[in-house]
Amino acid sequence: MSLAWKKSAIAMVAAGVLVGSMAACSTEREAEPESTGGAAAAEDTVVGIAMPTKSLERWNRDGAHLEGLLQDAGYETSLQYADNKVDQQITQLENMINQGADVLVIAPIDDTALAPTLQQAADADITVIAYDRLLLGTPNVDYYATFDNYGVGTMQGEFIVEALDLENAAGPFNLEPFAGSPDDNNAKFFFAGAWDVLSPYVESGKLVVPSGKQPATNDDWQSIGIQGWSSDTAQSEMENRLNSFYAGGAKVDVVLSPNDSLALGIAQALEGNGYAPGDGYPVLTGQDADQANVLNMIAGKQSMSVWKDTRALGDQVATMIEQIVAGEDVEVNDEETYDNGEKTVPTYLLQPQVITPDTVEVLVDSEFYSADDLGL
Ligand code: GAL
Repeated sequence: MSLAWKKSAIAMVAAGVLVGSMAACSTEREAEPESTGGAAAAEDTVVGIAMPTKSLERWNRDGAHLEGLLQDAGYETSLQYADNKVDQQITQLENMINQGADVLVIAPIDDTALAPTLQQAADADITVIAYDRLLLGTPNVDYYATFDNYGVGTMQGEFIVEALDLENAAGPFNLEPFAGSPDDNNAKFFFAGAWDVLSPYVESGKLVVPSGKQPATNDDWQSIGIQGWSSDTAQSEMENRLNSFYAGGAKVDVVLSPNDSLALGIAQALEGNGYAPGDGYPVLTGQDADQANVLNMIAGKQSMSVWKDTRALGDQVATMIEQIVAGEDVEVNDEETYDNGEKTVPTYLLQPQVITPDTVEVLVDSEFYSADDLGL
């Protein structure tokens, strides 16, 4: 929605009243909490929400839910999507800063690209919350709310171990691993979580990677990253691997896909190459429980997805904002993991959950989807 900043909010920001109270509760300034003379009100608080793209289902849900929550609580909001274009996101943030935002909630496209913009935000005493993806290389991020990203990868890896019964089966199984966008810090955690589970089986030879697209170490994950989490790029990469390394009749047994948008493209490539649901269809992982992927799971074209209930993340961020505005301590549960190169950002980590074709009703029971959405 368009910005209709409240004059009162702008006036308060200009007077330094509200920003003073916001600044007082950011982590660095906890030592001087009484500088403001009182908490602000939701009605006087402007929250800018910067989301990466509408092209992925989850971000639409994320944005709509958080904006709805904040508006119901009386905040002025501006929700912007940046079409996965970094420059567009920078412009949107600059507009929010210039128009008097008090809090910025940012899911960055490129984790490292926003440092100068965040300096402008800091100069305007704006509190910054990194949403789902961390903001790197800047001291000017106050809090981070996300799911346990390493845990997402662990769940994918453990699912593969169980699905192929890697402990007991003789193997070897043909594995094709993928990683997420090289500019997304989460992708590093997803890969590390999965690879820490799977690499022992690669080392023992139970899993083999016919394409050779297997990073030497966790730190080399970007070598198999799919820029922008693009389904199309994942599809053509999978097609290339199938054409180049499986032409002689070898079959893929398992594909490690870090999220659902990649899994969609990979499933397309598999189908195009003659793989049909049922026996012989590879184990294929995912993340986000996007609708198209849940439908694919029901159709036997994807084996699992790690579901991150975006409503819980929005709820947590709304709570953070409430605590910030009230001048209270902001609740976090991880102050060790998320070092952004400049500081360890106080983080609230939520727990994701595995969904399989047998458990998709969980998504309906929790009203994430209607039965109709899933053709149930
Ligand atoms: C990640 C996010 C995932 C996935 C991906 C693609 O940062 O944590 O849930 O959606 O981006 O947008």
